[in-house]
Amino acid sequence: MALHISDDKLSEIRNAADIVDMVSARVFLKKAGKDFVGLCPFHAEKTPSFTVSAGKQIFHCFGCGAGGDIFNFLMKYDGISFPEAVQAVARQYGIAMPEKDMSPQQKKQVSEREHLLALNRRVMAFYRDMLLKDPKGAAARQYLKQRKMNREMIEQFSLGFAPPGWDNLIRFLRKYRVPLEMAEKAGLIVPKKQRGYYDRFRNRIIFPIVDVTGQVVAFGGRVMDDAKPKYLNSPETPVYHKGRTLYGIHAAREKCRSQGCVFIVEGYFDLLAMHQHGLKNSVATLGTALTRDHIRRLSRAVGSGDKKAYLVFDSDEAGINAAKRTIGAFLEESMEAAVVLLPKGYDPDSYLFEQGPGAFDKLAQSAPSLFAFLIDSAIAAHGLTVEGKVRIIGEIAPVLAEIADSVARSLYVRHLAESIGVDEAAVLEKVRENRMKASARSERAPKTSGSGGDAPQRADAQKIPEDRLEKQVVAMMIQNPEVLPEIRERGILAYFEDAQLRELAEWICRVMDREAGTASDLFNSVEDEKHRQLLASLMMEDVCWAQDSCSLLLSQFIQCRQRKQTDLLQQIRAAEKSNDQELLIKLLSKKQKQAVERG
Ligand code: CTP
Ligand code: MN
Repeated sequence: MALHISDDKLSEIRNAADIVDMVSARVFLKKAGKDFVGLCPFHAEKTPSFTVSAGKQIFHCFGCGAGGDIFNFLMKYDGISFPEAVQAVARQYGIAMPEKDMSPQQKKQVSEREHLLALNRRVMAFYRDMLLKDPKGAAARQYLKQRKMNREMIEQFSLGFAPPGWDNLIRFLRKYRVPLEMAEKAGLIVPKKQRGYYDRFRNRIIFPIVDVTGQVVAFGGRVMDDAKPKYLNSPETPVYHKGRTLYGIHAAREKCRSQGCVFIVEGYFDLLAMHQHGLKNSVATLGTALTRDHIRRLSRAVGSGDKKAYLVFDSDEAGINAAKRTIGAFLEESMEAAVVLLPKGYDPDSYLFEQGPGAFDKLAQSAPSLFAFLIDSAIAAHGLTVEGKVRIIGEIAPVLAEIADSVARSLYVRHLAESIGVDEAAVLEKVRENRMKASARSERAPKTSGSGGDAPQRADAQKIPEDRLEKQVVAMMIQNPEVLPEIRERGILAYFEDAQLRELAEWICRVMDREAGTASDLFNSVEDEKHRQLLASLMMEDVCWAQDSCSLLLSQFIQCRQRKQTDLLQQIRAAEKSNDQELLIKLLSKKQKQAVERG
C-alpha cells in the first residue's frame, strides 16, 4: 500500500505519540526492565510474552511473532486500515490531519467508519432527547420509572426513545442532510420493497451499544408492552460485530480492573440493574452465547494477575448449555470461571430489585466453579445410576476433550471421576476417544479461516529463524545502517542460508539506499507481514554496536561460512573416495546452490 500521508506529518505524529500509552489503554502492561510486558492480545497465553519497547517504540510478541510499530498495533488490534490508525493516533495526541494528505481511497476508508460512528452518536442524541425532553417520550419515561431505572443510569447509559411512527428518524436525518444510504449502512433505517426507507426502531426504548473505546457502534430497542419481538438490535454493520461486542464494557472497565473480576449477565435491563446496585464490573452478552472472542476481550479488560468471571444465569437451559463450551477458553485466558445460578423465576434484574445486592453478593460468594457446576447439573439431570453416569461422561467428555492443556485436562478428568465415583481410566478413555474424533474431523475439514473470528490466531504465527549469527547480522543492519556499505562490499548476504533472513536483509539494503532513514522508518515501508514480524523481533534484540565490533562480527560470519564450505569440499572428496553416489549428488547440488547464490 502506497503511503499518501506526507512523511512530515507522519514523523510529527510518530514523535508525539507513545506506543506504551496507546497499548496500555488496551492491554494490561507491567514494567520489566526497560520494556513493558503483558499477555499478548493476538493469541491466547498464560505467561506474558508480549513486549513493548518504549525506547524503540515497537511491540513484539515472542510467542506468536506479531510485531510492529504503534500503527501496526492499532491496525491489528482494532482491525482498522493504516490511514485509520494514523488518524486515530493523530486524534489522540491532538494533531490536525489535513485530508489532502490522504489518497481518495484512504479518505473513503477512513471516512466510512468515522461517518458511521459520528452518525450513530448523533442518532443517540436524537433518541435521548426524545426520551428526556419530547412530549412523545412521556410513556417511555413512565416505563423506565416502572422498571426502577434511576436518572443516573438513564444518563450514564444514554438511554433513549424511538417514537412511534415510520419516519421520525428519517425526517431528522433529512433535516440535517444525512445521506440515507449511510443511515441504511448503519442499520438505522430499512429499505422499503418499492422505494424509500422506514425507521428500524419504532416505539421502543433505545439502548445505545458502546464499545470499549467509547464509540457508539449499534442500538438495541425494547417494546414497552407485550409486542413481538421484545428486543430488536442493529444488524451487523462495518462498525458492529455481535460476537465481539459486550454491552456495558465501557462503563465496566475500570471496576473490572480494580476488582480483578467481572459479572457476565444476559440482558440490557439485567446489566443496568447490576450497575444501579453498585455492581459496576458487569457486562452483558445481549442474548448471544458467550464467545471465545468475548472471553479474550474480558480477560484483557480485567487485566493481569488473578482474574475471575462470574457467569450469572437464570435457571434456563440455553445459557447454561452454551457455557459448557467456554471452559477451554477461560482456561486459555487463565481466567477462573464461576457460575451464579439465580433461584427459579428470577433474572439479575428482578433478583436485585427484590432481594437486594447483599443477597446477590452471598450467591456470588458461594458460586461454584464452572466445571463443578457442569458436573452438578449433569448429575441433577441424569442421576447417579449406572446409566446416569454413562450419560454424564458422554456429556462432559467432549467438553474436556477440547481443553488444550494436558495437565489441566487430566486434573479435570480426575475431578469428574471422583465427583461421580467412577474409575479415572474410564473417563480418560472416553476423553481420548473424543479427542481422536475431533482431530479426525479437523483433518478432514479444511481450515476455514475467519469463521466467527474466535479461533486463536496462531495460523499466521511466524517461525523465527534459528540461525543466531545471521540474525545478529540483520539486527545490526537495522540498528546500525552505517554498516550497510561494508555488508555490500564484502558480499555478506550471499553467505546467508536462511532464505527469509536473506530476503529481509536484501530488502533493508534497498530501502535504506533509497531513504537513508531510521529503523522505525522501516515500518513505513514494509509491506510483507512476515517481514514486519521478523523486523520487530530483530529490533527487540538489545545490542550496542560499535563500528569495529560490527566489522568483527562480519569477519566472524564470513569465516564461519567459509569453514562450512571447506567442510563441504572435504565431504565431497570423502564421498568420491567411498563411491557413495547418492551422497555425492546431494553434496554437489548443495555446492552448486551456494555458487549460484554467491552470484
Ligand atoms: N434478546 C434479544 N431479542 C429477543 C429477546 C431477547 O436480543 N427477542 C436479548 C436482549 O438483549 C435481552 C436478553 O436477550 O436483554 C435477555 O432476554 P430476556 O431474558 O428475554 O429479557 P430480559 O433481559 O429479562 O428483558 P426484560 O427484563 O426487559 O423483559
Ligand atoms: Mn428481565
